[in-house]
Amino acid sequence: GSSWKLADHPKLPKGKTVAMIVLDGWGEAKPDQYNCIHVAETPTMDSLKQGNPDTWRLVRAHGTAVGLPTEDDMGNSEVGHNALGAGRIFAQGAKLVDHALASGKIYGGEGFKYISQSFETGTLHLIGLLSDGGVHSRLDQLQLLLKGASEHGAKRIRVHILTDGRDVLDGSSVGFVETLEQDLAKLREKGVDAQVASGGGRMYVTMDRYENDWEVVKRGWDAQVLGEAPHKFRNPVEAVKKLREVPKSNDQYLPPFVIVDENGKPVGPIVDGDAVVTINFRADRMVMIAKALEYENFDKFDRVRVPKIRYAGMLQYDGELLLPKHYLVSPPEIERTSGEYLVHNGIRTFACSETVKFGHVTFFWNGNRSGCFNAELEEYVEIPSDSGITFNVQPKMKALEIGEKARDAILSRKFDQVRVNIPNSDMVGHTGDIEATVVACKAADEAVKMILDAIEQVGGIYVVTADHGNAEDMVKRNKSGQPLLDKNGNIQILTSHTLQPVPIAIGGPGLAPGVRFRKDVPTGGLANVAATVMNLHGFEAPSDYETTLIEVVDK
Ligand code: 3PG
Ligand code: CO
Repeated sequence: GSSWKLADHPKLPKGKTVAMIVLDGWGEAKPDQYNCIHVAETPTMDSLKQGNPDTWRLVRAHGTAVGLPTEDDMGNSEVGHNALGAGRIFAQGAKLVDHALASGKIYGGEGFKYISQSFETGTLHLIGLLSDGGVHSRLDQLQLLLKGASEHGAKRIRVHILTDGRDVLDGSSVGFVETLEQDLAKLREKGVDAQVASGGGRMYVTMDRYENDWEVVKRGWDAQVLGEAPHKFRNPVEAVKKLREVPKSNDQYLPPFVIVDENGKPVGPIVDGDAVVTINFRADRMVMIAKALEYENFDKFDRVRVPKIRYAGMLQYDGELLLPKHYLVSPPEIERTSGEYLVHNGIRTFACSETVKFGHVTFFWNGNRSGCFNAELEEYVEIPSDSGITFNVQPKMKALEIGEKARDAILSRKFDQVRVNIPNSDMVGHTGDIEATVVACKAADEAVKMILDAIEQVGGIYVVTADHGNAEDMVKRNKSGQPLLDKNGNIQILTSHTLQPVPIAIGGPGLAPGVRFRKDVPTGGLANVAATVMNLHGFEAPSDYETTLIEVVDK
């Protein structure tokens, strides 16, 4: 309706091309040898930083500023891009699941009632990421769900674990499996037949995203549903310890395994009449398995056997596709995003990244919604990522290709907003390879330069920011900031994101004189960016958006 119409900004003009650049995993931290952004040659980002404080500042990108439960929660791409695109802070999946479990409301909901119809005669299967990372899932939520489900009638439970090492330290998987085993033992004492049935590393089994590599999901399907895997073990702790010794293996890339009984028979394939819950709250890496579990027509790989199950997600992962149909906790309702408003106000939008981050600047940006709002005004371009590799071997990734596409889109003058995600500092940072991450940061900086040069040519405006920290700190530290050593005296590599703030810079020949960062939003975060960008397009933001970061002073 008419409510989509945005008011004109009283001082800022329309018609400027705005480049919205999101560096993934690019935080601000003290300069030292473990700060890859500091070590890398990054002249473009350095020059933005050394400029005027009126046009460069830091914003919060973790914890409550992005809708996470506590200030100890590091930022991540889902909540970061949600905040950037939606301009408001929504209680996110982690928090919503916490509340539903604490209040017990989860057990009264439609999703739980649906799966519990299988409890009398079938098995309850829980599939998901096993760690306390809090990015895709949390171990304590799994523990509560195991207990609650058994108290609400589940008699036979099988857990299909995915080891982490990406949102938490590599090697921590062993401890998480031990904790889970203790919980399952307690359930068995109470007469519940509960065990781990299969497992594998999150980057090699099940948790692919944006259709980068369906083989990953197939390996999971084979182990979880068919009970088939190259490795068979009696005990999951032993499985994880042994498989970590396989060359090139680590928590993220553990090969798939199944747990077998004394006769060598898998203890928990998924069969007709069973219930399945994917326990991750975050969507991107659950959409593919959800499709495999739910869709009748499916041609991404041969499922061999498609059991008739009752399936629910921890959350609904895609509000546009309504996938999956059943879920235990309602997802945040992220509506009226800036992208939707701007399209309603005639802003022609171009969005681009490579596969592994493509959904970040589209799906997450638009409030967990696939597709465009108006295909006549929007163009989303995905550059295929290299698949089947770890990105430390190809740290430049597709940064320059993204830069070129953005440059061409800007120079074409067919778009008002050109939005990109440059993935390098995050994707390579997650490998824990410090040298490669330095190369990654340099490549990202070069891509930024290409885009800023194009903005210069068309008289446009740029906004450069990031979704959360990663490459600026590659070592685990103690409370006073000193690197922590392991028992062999080696530093502990930090593969995960951080709690650091991220930079935001504005500029370009189209930036009206007198525009500067306000000094009265010192605690500003990613959610303040949407209103800022709307202003740069010449509009006032809706009144319930987090306040803009900029003001216009008379010159
Ligand atoms: C991943 O899914 O790769 C990590 O858990 C989080 O990284 P992202 O939030 O940067 O995507
Ligand atoms: Co990341």
